[in-house]
Amino acid sequence: MSRTSADTAKLVSDRILDQVNGGAISVLGVATGSSPSAVYLELAAAESKLIRHLEVFALDEYVGLNHWNEASYHAVVEEQISKPLRLDPAKVHVPDGMAVDLDKAAGDYESQLNHAGGVDFQILGIGSNGHIAFNEPGSAFHSRTRAVDLSETTRKDNARFFKTLNDVPSQAITQGIGTVMDAATIVLIAIGEEKAKAVARALQGPINTDSPASALRNHPDVTFVLDRASGSALNRKQMPLASQKW
Ligand code: F6R
Repeated sequence: MSRTSADTAKLVSDRILDQVNGGAISVLGVATGSSPSAVYLELAAAESKLIRHLEVFALDEYVGLNHWNEASYHAVVEEQISKPLRLDPAKVHVPDGMAVDLDKAAGDYESQLNHAGGVDFQILGIGSNGHIAFNEPGSAFHSRTRAVDLSETTRKDNARFFKTLNDVPSQAITQGIGTVMDAATIVLIAIGEEKAKAVARALQGPINTDSPASALRNHPDVTFVLDRASGSALNRKQMPLASQKW
């Protein structure tokens, strides 16, 4: 656990840069939303030539938002990741939420991930309801990329990125929990008190589909990077020893 959101961003970006420079990451999985945005700023500031060669996969996209809509994850990935990191646009992938056939688009996305050899390092955020990517509570742990309904909690939480709540789409295409779990290394970033309950349930509650992020405890290489506020509901006595790793 680190003190501030700036500390968390520095921790994660240093880890990514080390691994990219050491040749351990060629495919980076990226979350959108506010939690990881400072990480992308740090990565851009590092001006690493190797970062520019990364292949990048986003976790999800809203259904029915044009790619030039600034709230779409196509636009967010371009503004916060592709442009500042000077990535090759051909190597930046975001699910197609405008597809006529969403099932096909989801299957195609899985194929692209397979073709790239899978994600080496996945950055995740967590929803206040415990979702990872847009896998809402109740999502199967073996789920793959697919179209999903967004919960009202998620729509309300994300309304801050839209003009009104009505503008928030009610569906998304998301990598499944099973897809996310295929990444070799996973780092979940949580910032702020509104994430505290979800973090405590994920790390110290039962491992079940009510808490999608609890699935991560079945992953061999996962790290939660928390600021003080998002870690505030954890029972310190139950903290796993590995919490000292970073
Ligand atoms: C975004 C995503 C979501 C967010 C989560 C937290 O691509 O997959 O799971 O990571 O909703 O969002 P923020 O960081 O905005 O609180």
